Amino acid sequence: MNRDKESFFITTPIYYVNDKPHLGTAYSTLLADGRARFERLVKKDVFFLTGTDEHGEKIAQSAEKHEMSAQEWTDSMIPAFKDLWEKLNFSNDDFIRTTQDRHTVAVQKILEELKDKNAIYKDKYTGWYCVHEETHFTETQVHQYNEEKGKPEEHMCPDCDRELERVEEDSWFFRLSDYQDKLLSLYEEHPEFIEPEIRRNEVVSFVKGGLNDLSISRTSFSWGIPFSFDEEHVTYVWIDALINYLTAIGYGDESKAEELAYRWPADVHIVGKDIIRFHCVIWPAILMALGLEVPKRVFVHGFLLINGKKMSKSRGNAIDPYDLIKIFGSEAYRYYFLTDITHGADSSISIERMAQVYNADLANSWGNLVSRALNMSDKYFDGKTPGITDEQIQKTNILSAKIEKLYQPYCEAMEEMQFGKAAALVLEVIDAANLYIEQTTPWNLAKMEGAQEELAFVIYNILEAIRIVAYFYLPFMPKISQEVLSRLSEHDLSASLEDFARWGQLKQGVEVHKGEALFPRLDVEKLSLNE
Ligand code: MSP
Repeated sequence: MNRDKESFFITTPIYYVNDKPHLGTAYSTLLADGRARFERLVKKDVFFLTGTDEHGEKIAQSAEKHEMSAQEWTDSMIPAFKDLWEKLNFSNDDFIRTTQDRHTVAVQKILEELKDKNAIYKDKYTGWYCVHEETHFTETQVHQYNEEKGKPEEHMCPDCDRELERVEEDSWFFRLSDYQDKLLSLYEEHPEFIEPEIRRNEVVSFVKGGLNDLSISRTSFSWGIPFSFDEEHVTYVWIDALINYLTAIGYGDESKAEELAYRWPADVHIVGKDIIRFHCVIWPAILMALGLEVPKRVFVHGFLLINGKKMSKSRGNAIDPYDLIKIFGSEAYRYYFLTDITHGADSSISIERMAQVYNADLANSWGNLVSRALNMSDKYFDGKTPGITDEQIQKTNILSAKIEKLYQPYCEAMEEMQFGKAAALVLEVIDAANLYIEQTTPWNLAKMEGAQEELAFVIYNILEAIRIVAYFYLPFMPKISQEVLSRLSEHDLSASLEDFARWGQLKQGVEVHKGEALFPRLDVEKLSLNE
């Protein structure tokens, strides 16, 4: 917490632990990481939260299948998440697990508060429950779905078409039906609350259709957080899960009251399109009931499709993130998933496309530029960056002019989660620098008498463009950017993006390290996941 700076609190969904992390969950986390790294560059005080959702019937059933206790089972799944997140260089500031004590404290306190405020009540619940989706459905919803399918006698889940469970039990209910008007006003007064617009429209029409009170407790199994005032009841896993966003910033811990006030409301919740009702309907309603502010924004991303189809183990088209990392490396993995996908929409991904992007943007453009420039600096200036006059630095050239126009639109695109657009702007500078090399032909200047000053000017400009580009690429490829900067003897990366991007700060006469190729070209023909 640094109160001199503006807080920026960003979250991912917390992941169910009954599945290993996969391309989809890594994608949600990557989007948050790209944004978190950008916000750190513009000097916000970022708190980036991710973690795991460990309670509920689905997890309890998985544990039983594996002949473990639920806690043993969830514990055994955590290293897989931590390992992949580390490989992908995610910079989360916390990793919350809903089985941690701090979370039990926060959930129980919130339930007590909701009870005191008369926002929950006890009643009988009869209806249907989908264990896979961890979602309740009413008689009408189930009937309507199955009738539309032409099988009115069946009770399949409207979301995933699996067999539903009939539930009849005492339950605590949250008065969600009280919040229809308040939620509709929220969407109207703050259209930026749900982005993109297509998802907002979906939520608005859902809420306009009417809201039922929500069952928020279960008595039929015990793997959950018990209500402190009614211990037979465990908290409905979605209520438990949503509260993680408050637990992590200190809800329920008196000593952290200041942090809570500083961090809340969250700036962005990143979520997939399958979980918008929870985040855009139930969550703001609970917060309203507690008298807390609602998050500033829920950014909804689409699904990754593999060659146009939803990926799943049963379809046999799932790709293991580790296989992609093995072929492309984790930095190129990040670059591809951040830049080649329209984040609000469903997007097809493929290895072939990934290889194309890798070769075009990374091997041929960025990697090539860095290797040519560092080699020339090494060769013509004795392993050092060239020295030039102040007058030359001030002289506008095609590259400094381009860089001057980069900051503003780049920041706007990053703030809108349009990472592809932001990266395309950076790539324009790289292309311009490669073209500048072709046009200025430093190898000819090196041979020409009296052209030493001009040669220094040209190489300086190219290296200066590289220095600045590397900084703009930090949210996308943090390791490669750091590597490039250190090859230019640039080790202090604490400046704001705006300051760092000011033309003319390349250190003169410092060592340049040629290093290995950053992105060796891939032979697309020979690519295979089984290599
Ligand atoms: N535990 C809940 C979230 C609770 S948040 C308070 C959950 N977990 S999940 O593990 O099933 O999914 C988490 C995220 O992964 C969701 O945002 C979901 O959209 C995302 N993805 C899962 N498969 C995906 C794709 N194929 N493509 C992109 N993201 C998808 O839901």
